[in-house]
Amino acid sequence: MDERKKKRSFVRLIKKGNEMLKKYHNIALIPGDLNGVTVTEATLEVVEALKKSLEKPIKHTRYDYNATYFNKHKITTLGENELGELEKYDQIFLGAVGDPKKIKPGIVEAGILLKVRQYFDQYVNLRPVILPEGVPTILKDKTYKDINFEICRENSEGLYIGAGWIEKEGTEEEAGYQVMKCTYKGVKRLAEFAVKRAIARKKAKKPKLHMVFKTNVLTYAAHPWNRVFEEFRTRKDIDVYYMHIDNFMMQMLIKPEQFDVVITENMFGDISTDAGAVIQGGIGSAVSGNINPEGIYPSMFEPIHGSSPDKWYNSKGQYDAALTQLVKPEAAFFSYAMMLEQMGEGKAAKLLKEAALANIKDPNYQNMKLKELIAKACVFVKKN
Ligand code: IPM
Ligand code: MN
Repeated sequence: MDERKKKRSFVRLIKKGNEMLKKYHNIALIPGDLNGVTVTEATLEVVEALKKSLEKPIKHTRYDYNATYFNKHKITTLGENELGELEKYDQIFLGAVGDPKKIKPGIVEAGILLKVRQYFDQYVNLRPVILPEGVPTILKDKTYKDINFEICRENSEGLYIGAGWIEKEGTEEEAGYQVMKCTYKGVKRLAEFAVKRAIARKKAKKPKLHMVFKTNVLTYAAHPWNRVFEEFRTRKDIDVYYMHIDNFMMQMLIKPEQFDVVITENMFGDISTDAGAVIQGGIGSAVSGNINPEGIYPSMFEPIHGSSPDKWYNSKGQYDAALTQLVKPEAAFFSYAMMLEQMGEGKAAKLLKEAALANIKDPNYQNMKLKELIAKACVFVKKN
């Protein structure tokens, strides 16, 4: 264990001991850019209305780590200062980052999102694909009974470690290389997390774990995946299967009911969860928890995608408040609820989820403006 982790584990132990004495939850907020700010502020309003249902009050501290901050400080990634600051908190809530008018796409995404995930060893990206009862799906003849599984995306290695090089730039022979790193420890700890999750979900009598990769082609990176599969398939408490990513993407659409908990490499998890979002009722309801399961570091919760410049700037490139009213905040509500669950605030989490769901199920949902959606959710959490 490295020095920082050791020190941090110790601090956590003391903190755990003091948990009973702690008077409030300490949350860092990173609204980010554009739509990220819109949905974070919307969420805060509803959380404020929810406060009577909380075991302990929540203290939010806002950090404006975003495109403007990167420009002002001339940085391309968060450094020890910012990360050290975030490390003080129990959890982090993030809106969305990226503003192409201010910064080249990719910089804040890697410099904030990927950086935080790695620095705090948030090695699981938990992305449930759960269609709520009463919400339509684009899959013909499928209902909430069929679409109910969780993708645990590997979130600290794989193709997203940011390693690679460019050869012979500017020539006809130019080549870009991107390295995919999969480690035995990395795959194993993810599989262990997923097994616990599958057992706790109780979806079927015998829980199921699907390991998804591309072992027929990515033969080097496949090594640890094969090894972990061989070790886990002999377990008695869970059925373990292997599937190639291409087949998984098809099966998800043809027979989603066969899945319980799925683990996969970072990029495969990134891409497949977008298809997952679509079958669970739309990207506007998709949730993502970047989790450090041991709780040594803070975890980070965020709606899946995106800062949506078109919901902030009009065609002349000016800020347009009317456009922000078209934004749907429910994915942010669900993500905040996932964070509340992790904090042991089950009652408030349930209420917030139900409020988001009541919005989505409103027959007039598509036409409702942001402020109406916030107001409706506030009324819901207050009266329940
Ligand atoms: C997502 C996004 C991010 C990711 C990018 C922007 C780093 O695509 O949340 O799915 O890969 O996780
Ligand atoms: Mn993505």
